[in-house]
Amino acid sequence: MKFTDKVALVTGGASGLGEGICHQLAKEGAKVVVTDINLAGAEHVVTDILNNGGQALALQLDVTDMKNIQEVGAIVKEKYGLVDYWVNNAGISKITPFFEHTEELWDQTLNINLKGQFLCCKEAITQMLEKGKGSIVNMSSQSGKIGTSHYQAYCSSKFGVIGLTQSLSAEFAPMGIRVNSVCPGVIYTPMWDQQKVDYGKKRNLEPDMVMDYFKNKIPLRRLGTLEDIAKAVCFLLSDEADYITGQALNLNGGDSMF
Ligand SMILES: NC(=O)c1ccc[n+]([C@@H]2O[C@H](COP(=O)([O-])OP(=O)(O)OC[C@H]3O[C@@H](n4cnc5c(N)ncnc54)[C@H](O)[C@@H]3O)[C@@H](O)[C@H]2O)c1
Repeated sequence: MKFTDKVALVTGGASGLGEGICHQLAKEGAKVVVTDINLAGAEHVVTDILNNGGQALALQLDVTDMKNIQEVGAIVKEKYGLVDYWVNNAGISKITPFFEHTEELWDQTLNINLKGQFLCCKEAITQMLEKGKGSIVNMSSQSGKIGTSHYQAYCSSKFGVIGLTQSLSAEFAPMGIRVNSVCPGVIYTPMWDQQKVDYGKKRNLEPDMVMDYFKNKIPLRRLGTLEDIAKAVCFLLSDEADYITGQALNLNGGDSMF
C-alpha cells in the first residue's frame, strides 16, 4: 500500500490503460480521481474500485478544455486535497494512409494527445508547486520513438509528448516535481477494435490475424497487459523512482530497445 493518503488523478480513466492504472493506484491505497470525457465510463470504474474496498471519485474531464481542467482541479482540491500524482493518459489513435489523413484528424489528434497533456500539466504542476512535491506520468507510445507509415498524426503527437516531458522535467526538477513518460507497445484495449481492421489493411492481414502478427515479432512473445503498464506507471509515480525524471520508459516486451 505505497500510496496510502496520496491523491492521484488519471485522464482517460474510463477505458483500457487508464482504467488499469486507476485500479492499480486504488490497490496501492491512493484516493483515485477517475476522469474521462465519458462520465458514465468513469463512474463504472469508480463503482468497481469502491466494490473492491478502494477510494475513488469520478469526474467528467475533456483534456482539451482548460476551464474544465481548472474546475476539476478545484473539486479535487476541495474533496481530497492537492494532487500528489497526475497521469496524462487520455488519447485517440487512427491508422490511415497519409493522403487520407485529413487536417481535421491532425488537429483532433494533436489537440487531445499533446495539447491536452500540456494543458493538464498546468493544473497538475500548479497544485504540486503548492504542495512542494509531485510526480507526473505522460502517456507516449512506442510510436513516440519510431515513426511508422499511416500514422503521421499519432506518431507526431506521441513524439511531442516526449519533448513536453523532457522540457517540464528540466524546469521543475529543482522544485521536487518529477515528470516521466511511458512508451507502451501494443496492448489490446478498445482502441484496437477499429485499429486492427485499419492495420490489417496496411499489412494485408485479416483483422483477426493482427494481434498474432504483433505477438510473433515481440521478443517476449506476448502482448503487454493492462497490469504490465499500470505497474510501471505506479513505479514511476512512486518514491521508489525518486531519482528518475525526464525519461521515456519502453514497455514493449523488447520490441524496440532505444
Ligand atoms: N493500447 C495500446 O496499444 C497503446 C499503446 C501505446 C500507447 N497507448 C496510449 O495509451 C492511452 C490510452 O489508450 P487505450 O488503448 O487505453 O485507449 P482507449 O480508447 O481504451 O481509452 C482512451 C480513453 O481516453 C478517453 N478520451 C478520449 N478523448 C478524450 C478527451 N478529449 N478528454 C478526456 N478523455 C478522453 C476515452 O473516452 C477513453 O476512455 C492513449 O494515450 C494511447 O495513445 C495505447
